[in-house]
Amino acid sequence: MSPEPRLAIVVVAAGSGTRLGRETPKAFVELRGRTILEHAVRGVFAATHAAQVIIVAPPAFVARAREVGERAAGAASAFLTVVAGGETRQRSVAAGLAALAPGVEAVLVHDAARALAPSELIDRVAGAVLAGGSDGVIPALPVIDTVKRVEGDRVVAAVDRSELVHVQTPQGFPRAALEAAYAEAREDHTDDAALYAASGRGVVTVAGDPRAFKITTPWDLGRAEQLLDAGVRMRSGIGIDAHAFDPKAPLWLGGVAFPGEPGLAGHSDGDAVIHAMCDALLSAAGLGDLGSRFGSARPEYAGAASEVFLRETLALVADAGYRVGNVAVQVVANRPRLAPRRAEIEARLAALVGAPVSVAATTSDGLGFTGRGEGLVAIATALVTH
Ligand code: CTP
Ligand code: MG
Repeated sequence: MSPEPRLAIVVVAAGSGTRLGRETPKAFVELRGRTILEHAVRGVFAATHAAQVIIVAPPAFVARAREVGERAAGAASAFLTVVAGGETRQRSVAAGLAALAPGVEAVLVHDAARALAPSELIDRVAGAVLAGGSDGVIPALPVIDTVKRVEGDRVVAAVDRSELVHVQTPQGFPRAALEAAYAEAREDHTDDAALYAASGRGVVTVAGDPRAFKITTPWDLGRAEQLLDAGVRMRSGIGIDAHAFDPKAPLWLGGVAFPGEPGLAGHSDGDAVIHAMCDALLSAAGLGDLGSRFGSARPEYAGAASEVFLRETLALVADAGYRVGNVAVQVVANRPRLAPRRAEIEARLAALVGAPVSVAATTSDGLGFTGRGEGLVAIATALVTH
């Protein structure tokens, strides 16, 4: 067990997200397959300094926040605490501070809504505050647009933007001073640095990061989606499987039974569609092939339903960090007629894979072993992303 951390990171996620306008609280809104909270907490756990991570969640979402936190934390989950937040951001931070572990000397307060804040930024603030000193440390970015002071729609003054900055989170503070500032606070402040400064303490800036922007409106959510999409890498894979017909065997194809049709010879149930899909998925993820992964002659797979291979293949692909985009399969055979069962097979396979699966069929115009009706071939492609 590692020593108790000197740092704590309070991730406030208890807001409702009025300006985002969803029914779900903002931190639990999905952003490309993960909640906003999970993105934020992953960034926190990817930071270098060991830290107690305290998630402050809406009261009804404490259990879900714990699941998200544990998934994001992995081995570090011993240092995860989840508490319920309050009516205002300031009360939510106070609830987080009440859960600080005894050994903590410095605290970072971070908005879950800054889902894409990079771990380098967290490291920068943590490094500065752990270096000692009594000042708060906040990330800031220069103001790029010209700024005006207005009354209604009338411009009343130019403002010198060179003396202004945008500030972000995480904001870092020495623990005892932050706790004292919170205890002394008499009014609501818009961020922790304002509350800290109101108690007469100093605050300095370090370089902010544009990726740490706060998701506030639907437009911001779209921007976050685009940033994540730009970082996605895709890989395609191919798989082919051929089996001879065996009139004594039952036919399984695409995970469904075809009563009365000649089956396929093979060590397992001979489901060439699923075998080709597995090979395409393993190929896309660079994980070899069905034979080398599952040993086609292993006794435990004798007569096995091929769905077992597909489940295990999907687990391998997921463990390697890939998500399945889609799978497409084409069967080359004189029989069975697939058209009447196509929708059923596609629905079943899509449910197993968790992504679209399309199934098509053709004949080989009387040519070759498929044309002579001796066997069947399935060809699959898969797309995975990471
Ligand atoms: N927050 C919180 N408790 C509150 C209010 C806000 O923990 N009572 C958190 C939010 O979850 C968010 C961060 O403080 O991560 C910044 O607040 P903001 O972006 O304003 O989020 P919301 O208050 O949820 O959004 P809105 O103001 O649009 O309702
Ligand atoms: Mg708010």
